[in-house]
Amino acid sequence: MAEEQEESQVIRAPKGTHDVLWPESSRWEALVVAFAGRARRAGFGLTLTPVFEDARLFRRGMGGQSDVVNKEMYEFTDRSDRPLALRPEGTAPIVRAFVQHHPPVPWKAWYVTPAFRYEEPQAGRYRQHHQLGVEVLGTEDPDVDVEVIALAARFYGDLGLRQVELSVNSMGCAEDRPRYVAALKQYLAGRAAELCDEHRERFELNPLRVLDCKQAQCRAVTEDAPRLVDFLDAACAAHLARVRRGLDALGIGHRLEPRLVRGLDYYTRTTFEFAATALAAAQNAVGGGGRYDGLAEAIGGEPTPGIGFGIGIERLLLACDAEATFAVAPAAAEAFVIDLTGGEEARDLVDELRQAGLTALRAYDGRSAKSQMKQADKSGALFALIIGPEEQANGVVTVRPLRDGGDQQTVSRGAVAARLSELSDEVTGP
Ligand code: HAM
Repeated sequence: MAEEQEESQVIRAPKGTHDVLWPESSRWEALVVAFAGRARRAGFGLTLTPVFEDARLFRRGMGGQSDVVNKEMYEFTDRSDRPLALRPEGTAPIVRAFVQHHPPVPWKAWYVTPAFRYEEPQAGRYRQHHQLGVEVLGTEDPDVDVEVIALAARFYGDLGLRQVELSVNSMGCAEDRPRYVAALKQYLAGRAAELCDEHRERFELNPLRVLDCKQAQCRAVTEDAPRLVDFLDAACAAHLARVRRGLDALGIGHRLEPRLVRGLDYYTRTTFEFAATALAAAQNAVGGGGRYDGLAEAIGGEPTPGIGFGIGIERLLLACDAEATFAVAPAAAEAFVIDLTGGEEARDLVDELRQAGLTALRAYDGRSAKSQMKQADKSGALFALIIGPEEQANGVVTVRPLRDGGDQQTVSRGAVAARLSELSDEVTGP
């Protein structure tokens, strides 16, 4: 009985995932098109990699310390016992593809991808989210860091977002890090009693994580902690200075945030994060990234510097809602064909119009004239194209404006696509 009941239950999308239905999806479409345009103009090409990878890629690439790898990865074995993981992020797969195919450098890849993390779902935090991102492999030029950060910043501007703040930091290089970590550990040990429960126990394991902790106790302690920027060697310090000068030159406002260490372990030198201040702090990171100059090597490739960012699409749209910007109306169809002769005229005419580059809709299932008209009105189409027995006999189509109450006209069947094109341009502009 229980089994029967269970079988008859409606199956819903898994916890922490969501469907994006039309017309909400028109915003997604417009977002990806806008991003693709920006990326193309900066020399990036769309890059597609599998949604699942060898689980060792993320373990090795992203390091064993991050929550994303340790606690949140969707891991499974396939029917041949291969260890696989759904991608929790987009960078390691792109670097894996680079190492595997060794394209000429600098290699500039952009992507749009779902990412999977077993997190506790809440507003702006999902088990499947979607990212837009770019990665550049094969150059450590700080001007590339500026280009990459500028691409994201300009893209937020394209959407009309005004309340996005950029924080920048440097994670230093492999030699700077141990000196800093030792100093930080010593500092935290002196104030361990004041840390949050989790970090009081675990700060020695990975003291950098404490800098990332959102708990008030830890924030208070890390306020006066030693700063990584003060431990940079001359080359890393000069790199950071050049990045910051570049951002200033391009008019991209930012501030140095010495506690910005980000949640993934592969970062070296430049790191950055964009916060949408119109959103609550727990979900306001609308994008982030940085350099990962050791990642290619960590997954078995030649040492190759790299930098990129990921932007969470859901968060970005929440930020747009909070700022009441980027409302995208689906494009109106030019025609809704109303066939009162049985449907064959509609079948042929919609195909002809679509071949001519116009958007044409119709009703199905032999609906009455009244019902077809109602659907045409609801569809938002600019014109109803009506073919009744009389029009059919005379080889014409009646064109009735649905939007602005203009005059109805009769157009010869052979000229209808061309005429409709002209009429639509008059309504919407060419
Ligand atoms: P990330 O900061 O982990 O970085 O994620 C990038 C963005 O994805 C975040 O800023 C946020 O907007 C969104 N995001 C992350 N997790 C979730 C979630 N559970 N629900 C909704 N949105 C989320 C990376 O993934 C790096 N691969 C970025 C990068 C590229 N670094 C270098 N290149």
